[in-house]
Amino acid sequence: ETERTFVMVKPDGVQRGLIGEIVSRFEDRGLKLVGAKFVRIDRDLAERHYGEHEDKPFFGDLVSFITSGPVMAMVWEGQDAVAQVRTMMGETDPAESAPGTVRGDFGLDLGRNVIHGSDTEEGSNEREIDLFFDEDELLDYERSD
Ligand code: CMP
Repeated sequence: ETERTFVMVKPDGVQRGLIGEIVSRFEDRGLKLVGAKFVRIDRDLAERHYGEHEDKPFFGDLVSFITSGPVMAMVWEGQDAVAQVRTMMGETDPAESAPGTVRGDFGLDLGRNVIHGSDTEEGSNEREIDLFFDEDELLDYERSD
């Protein structure tokens, strides 16, 4: 099924100059970039985006970290895009992520894990896309491979 997923290069990834590397991996894989914005997230958006974690002990640190500098927020489209991106990202913990995955290759620890992608729970992708993008910011075009 063709679907869209939300992906964000986190502040650590931006600061370490990894935006291009990460975008290239998804482009090379044949996924289509349909939306992108380079933004500093405010506290309100961070708390809404990570709402499911609000009772976790690391929630405060997570919100502080994700608002600490700019992020590259993107929407990628393709066949089973949510699962494809999750496979390419690796596990939440870089130490458990395979080489060849973004977190396996670049992640430092649970917090500084470089990238976020929507989980496979029904509707997570649409919810996250809607939080960050207006409909007219998602662009349609043909990819030639
Ligand atoms: P992400 O995919 O962005 O979704 C929630 C984030 O919480 C996760 O990546 C991790 O970066 C972060 N996280 C999860 N567990 C911990 C933890 N124990 N300590 C700090 N951060 C965590």
